[in-house]
Amino acid sequence: MPAGESFYITTPIYYPSDVPHIGHGYTSVAVDTLARWHRQSGDDTWMLTGTDEHGQKMLRAAAANNVTPQEWVDKLVSESWFPLLETLDVANDDFIRTTQERHERNVQVFFQRLYDAGYIYAGEYEALYCVGCEEFKPESEIVDGTGPFEGLKVCAIHSKPLELLQEKNYFFKLSEFQDRLLELYKNEPDFVRPHSARNEVVSFVSQGLKDLSISRSTFDWGIPLPWDESHVIYVWVDALLNYATAVGYGSDEEQFARRWPAYHVVGKDILRFHAVIWPALLMAAGVEVPKGVFAHGWLLVGGEKMSKSKLTGIAPTEITDVFGSDAYRFYFLSAIAFGQDGSFSWEDLSARYQAELANGFGNLASRTIAMVERYFDGVVPAAGEYSEQDLHVQKVVADAAAEADAAIERFRIDEAIEAIWTIVDELNGYITENEPWSLAKDDAQRERLGTVLYTCAEGLRALAVLLSPVMPQATAKLWDALGAEGALGALTAQPIREAGRWSQLPVDTRVQTLAPLFPRVESQA
Ligand code: ME8
Ligand code: MG
Repeated sequence: MPAGESFYITTPIYYPSDVPHIGHGYTSVAVDTLARWHRQSGDDTWMLTGTDEHGQKMLRAAAANNVTPQEWVDKLVSESWFPLLETLDVANDDFIRTTQERHERNVQVFFQRLYDAGYIYAGEYEALYCVGCEEFKPESEIVDGTGPFEGLKVCAIHSKPLELLQEKNYFFKLSEFQDRLLELYKNEPDFVRPHSARNEVVSFVSQGLKDLSISRSTFDWGIPLPWDESHVIYVWVDALLNYATAVGYGSDEEQFARRWPAYHVVGKDILRFHAVIWPALLMAAGVEVPKGVFAHGWLLVGGEKMSKSKLTGIAPTEITDVFGSDAYRFYFLSAIAFGQDGSFSWEDLSARYQAELANGFGNLASRTIAMVERYFDGVVPAAGEYSEQDLHVQKVVADAAAEADAAIERFRIDEAIEAIWTIVDELNGYITENEPWSLAKDDAQRERLGTVLYTCAEGLRALAVLLSPVMPQATAKLWDALGAEGALGALTAQPIREAGRWSQLPVDTRVQTLAPLFPRVESQA
């Protein structure tokens, strides 16, 4: 995409009643990496995350803890959800909470518009509701309970009993949007990605849509409907609106025009809300639909979707305390094809940390810096005439940078990292073949030694720039060690789409000792 364009990207807003686990962390670091990449490309970037604080789930959790729902969410957000962003080095531009006034007020504005436009009507409703999902369940997701729930209908996802709700509700005429949605998926084949997700959505919508209940009247922890305050707005539609209210919908037209429409990255569990209900609501309100929805897969632990409610939850700090946040980011973003499920295991994490980060990238960085120190008194030498092998390194760097950028355009962070890693492998092979330590023994090879070490140092310069969205800490250390800041400026200010251009690191730059970027980790018990 041309530089300077708006790039607005969001995570789902999480339910704060669950403590953050590695699944939430996965989405957040993926979105942060995409945002950092675009920010570093000069795009007009905005990254939003936040928390989804209304609804029955929250109300009950608060009651069980003997506090008001507002006290409950305030505590969780400050004790667990803000710290998650620190833990994982997420550089979000904004954090929205659905209990904020900027949200509540403009959700009402939005619904009043839908009501005035005739898309909302009152009706009776009776259906099975899952509080875990905060959703009336379709037939296909209702199963017979077992064990303590024998004889009851339970949610296929949560395995907990469903509740029969019968009340007066307001409905949104979702059924009227089938054709327009199908047309959207057809005209914008990338509206839903990956394509497996798109196919699922198309087949779901092709079967016809039912109107959507958008209000509840039996509890009051939510946003009142502006025309009937005895109802609160259904938590899911309240939540979806966050993407619009956070950037000024209803209050700051200028900001809204600058940012909107967004890209949404979500787990596949909440794809339909984002790819079906959300664009339909926007169409009804006369607002542009999102640029796209990308659904990633599930982290599986022991073969099952990891989840707090099934007690397979792993806290991100369990990983970052041992391996650091860069390793967390690198591991999940590189080891799992973005869009597919991926299994987490400590063994796999440890093995990749050791092989790819410590031995691959980390070692390349330390030994290059050490050799510049040892053989050239810490001053980056000039390259002499380039051999074909040196030119090949330059081509690998240029190709990797271009491929990585193209992969990021497709939201394939894993493929971007794979492309960047060809530089790591190429340079490690290059050092082995050129044996700078042997060249150093022969005065006649002084110029060749300079060429080899310049090639390595300049390759590291490109790696630091390309990997900084993925591993902000290690690359910042590397940037310092290369002494690049003085000549080239801050790492995060390096235009990423030019990272592949050779000869950017100036000759005579002074390097500094580099402590291991990925220190040895005591083996897991
Ligand atoms: O659904 N693997 O919030 P939530 C990968 N509040 N990602 C996972 C995961 C796993 N095992 N478990 C959770 C909600 N996630 C609503 C969203 S948006 C308008 C409202 C991630 O706290 C993934 O991004 O249940 C998933 O979609 C999200 O957490 C669900 O978070
Ligand atoms: Mg959930």
